[in-house]
Amino acid sequence: MNLNLSVTQKDPEQKIFSSSYASDQVSKISEIYKEEHNISIWERKLDSKIVESAEKALIKNPELQFSEIVKPENVKKTLLEKVDSDEETLFLNNDIEYIVNVFCNLFDLKQIWLRLDAINEPMCPRFHTDSVKCRLVTTYVGPGTQWLPHDVVNRSKLGHGNQGKADNKSGLFVNKKDIKELDTGHVALLKGEDWVGNKGSGLVHRSPHKKQNYKRLYMTIDFLDFYLSIYKIRPSF
Ligand SMILES: [Fe+2]
Repeated sequence: MNLNLSVTQKDPEQKIFSSSYASDQVSKISEIYKEEHNISIWERKLDSKIVESAEKALIKNPELQFSEIVKPENVKKTLLEKVDSDEETLFLNNDIEYIVNVFCNLFDLKQIWLRLDAINEPMCPRFHTDSVKCRLVTTYVGPGTQWLPHDVVNRSKLGHGNQGKADNKSGLFVNKKDIKELDTGHVALLKGEDWVGNKGSGLVHRSPHKKQNYKRLYMTIDFLDFYLSIYKIRPSF
């Protein structure tokens, strides 16, 4: 377990506490509920059967873009229908079902927005924060999401604040070594700007940057209300 607290002095009146939390125990991912954490990581090592299964799924579905609203009880059925899965990807599907259950139990949800994508290049190449309450991310194949600890970020350089400069030239962060990267298999909860009380402290993150080409099998889980707000759909359930 690694508890790393840091304090950033935003102005003389207001101290913002924001830090990362990491553990090898899945139950500890609930540390995201603590005000001072803007990322909580379950540092797990993927079982070789899941790795094999995920690699096979990626080979079979090199252009995969799965995006569905699912309930914990219908995840596997939906994956079987939409991803053309079979017994070779059983271990992957079992794991996805498990992670969906973790997310739903943690936030007391009946359904969520699940996305599973085959990716060849950075989807979100610039560092940014998300306008969400909280997003779960994990990478089954390939490099994981990169992020910056709160206390090393000059947030005035995010978005238009970069004045057209690359992130490593804008002053967003000082030292390249400050960039953290999730390992393949790690499951992380990224707190966004819309988490109550987290305005100005959403986790700064981006897709992995690598010199060489890469292939990823990347999964995200979002709250249903985020999906509904994007697609302007009124809930009918
Ligand atoms: Fe993002």
